[in-house]
Amino acid sequence: ARILVLHGPNLNMLGVREPGVYGHTTLADIHRAMEDRAKASGALLESFQSNHEGELIDRLHAAYTEGVDFIIINPAGLGHTSVSLRDALAAVAIPFVEVHLSNVHAREPFRHHTYTSSIAVGVICGLGAEGYQYAVDFALNKLLAG
Ligand code: DQA
Repeated sequence: ARILVLHGPNLNMLGVREPGVYGHTTLADIHRAMEDRAKASGALLESFQSNHEGELIDRLHAAYTEGVDFIIINPAGLGHTSVSLRDALAAVAIPFVEVHLSNVHAREPFRHHTYTSSIAVGVICGLGAEGYQYAVDFALNKLLAG
């Protein structure tokens, strides 16, 4: 089983960036914990972060070619703005869970809508870095159940 984790713009700054909103956990910490979980189940997990919309779209197209089974994505600000990122997710038709560290619904109105959520299997938001671990558990349960 292959799982791809995609992180959008500014998530490379986790740990430093607005810690009151996003916490002190770094992207490397998040990746390590997810990888441990995946390895224990014999799944392959890869993470990719980019600040560039086109790179995320290119990575999605590559995931299709590679036969990635499941995607976990925090589209970050692009979730609120990018029709193209949504179109890429729809194009590759790989099931995905959308994760946000913060509870976007409790924040500014412009964060309440994401273009990606209506085609996601599900959305986790507001659970901080733990949300990613729940997303991996979900993906592993789905994939290993066949
Ligand atoms: C975020 C929430 C978005 O509104 C914001 O633009 C981000 C991070 C989150 O994980 O809480 O960059 O996706």
